Amino acid sequence: MSWLSEYYGYINLLAIAGAAATVLVTAFVVSIYFKNIKSAKKSGELSEDSWDGIKEYKNPLPLGWAVSFLILCIWAIWYMLAPAGLPFTYPLGAYSQIGEYNEEVTAYNKKFASQWQNADEATLVNMGRSVFFAQCAPCHGLDKSGIGGKAADLTAWGTEAAAVNSVVHGSKGMNYPLGEMAPLLGGLVEDEATVRRATAYMVKYIAQIKPVSPADESTKEAEYAAWEICASCHGYDGAGMEAAAPDLRNYGKAAFITEVLNRGKDGYIGNMPAFNDGRLTDIQKQAVSAYVLSDEQ
Ligand code: HEC
Ligand code: HEC
Repeated sequence: MSWLSEYYGYINLLAIAGAAATVLVTAFVVSIYFKNIKSAKKSGELSEDSWDGIKEYKNPLPLGWAVSFLILCIWAIWYMLAPAGLPFTYPLGAYSQIGEYNEEVTAYNKKFASQWQNADEATLVNMGRSVFFAQCAPCHGLDKSGIGGKAADLTAWGTEAAAVNSVVHGSKGMNYPLGEMAPLLGGLVEDEATVRRATAYMVKYIAQIKPVSPADESTKEAEYAAWEICASCHGYDGAGMEAAAPDLRNYGKAAFITEVLNRGKDGYIGNMPAFNDGRLTDIQKQAVSAYVLSDEQ
């Protein structure tokens, strides 16, 4: 049988032997019962009940069988729940190939993180390009433009115009406690001028990214008044009221994209998976976010 153990190892050989024994014992028991059915000789005690003259044999559980059944039940629970290291348990702490693989990946990721923790912007953008081609381009296109509307157009993402667009048409699917931002124009906000003023306030004073028109003290008050509509969800400071809504101080920046990657987006255009399953390390997320924001293609 050495050819078999060579192929399957002795654990598998034991399992095969066990299976063969089970089949043999079952065949043996079944053959006895068949013989009993055929023989005219009656044995055993009949119960008192009778259904139209048909009676049943008393069939008590054999004590040995019942005891071993109970012991097996207790062992099954012990086997699954008892901590590793105790006898007769599944060796959770023992060697496994998957465990070894995971350890190697963790060690590699640690080395990767320490090697690139102080990477400069150009290095991040370079690294981000290859991540983008592998992970994002299938939906967002090699040129980031979203393949004709199949996914978000990332060449325009994070600008004042994109923010206005999100406010007008709504945004959803990042799974914040406040849920979605329903299209605000025609809802909470009556006219487009107010949307523009509110978004201008957010862009200039909260996100502090490139505004369409420069900051102007004379319009600041009107812009702030419009922003108050938004503050009910985003907070007056735009910080998102402790993660109930996105932190708009990060809008248009790498940190916002990294948050999108961690959350995923079941949006209006389509679904983007979350990248929080270990597919990308923190540095890779930073890198691909930097690449998205860069002018590189
Ligand atoms: C009813 C609550 C609510 C109000 C009011 C609200 N928002 Fe939002 N906003 C949200 C939520 C929730 C999200 C996250 C939506 C998602 O999952 O994509 C969001 C997302 C955003 C985004 C990010 C969009 C993107 O593309 O990622 C911007 C920008 C924004 N809001 C600006 C505003 C501005 C400006 C106003 C006021 C005119 C406003 N919001 C009013 C709840 C609100
Ligand atoms: C399976 C397709 C798919 C993949 C892969 C994908 N995305 Fe997306 N992404 C989408 C779709 C669809 C949207 C638009 C969702 C919506 O708003 O309806 C989107 C939206 C976005 C947004 C805008 C979020 C916002 O605030 O509105 C960013 C930024 C983004 N993706 C970055 C990335 C990056 C970076 C990667 C790669 C690491 C990536 N995506 C991979 C489909 C994808």
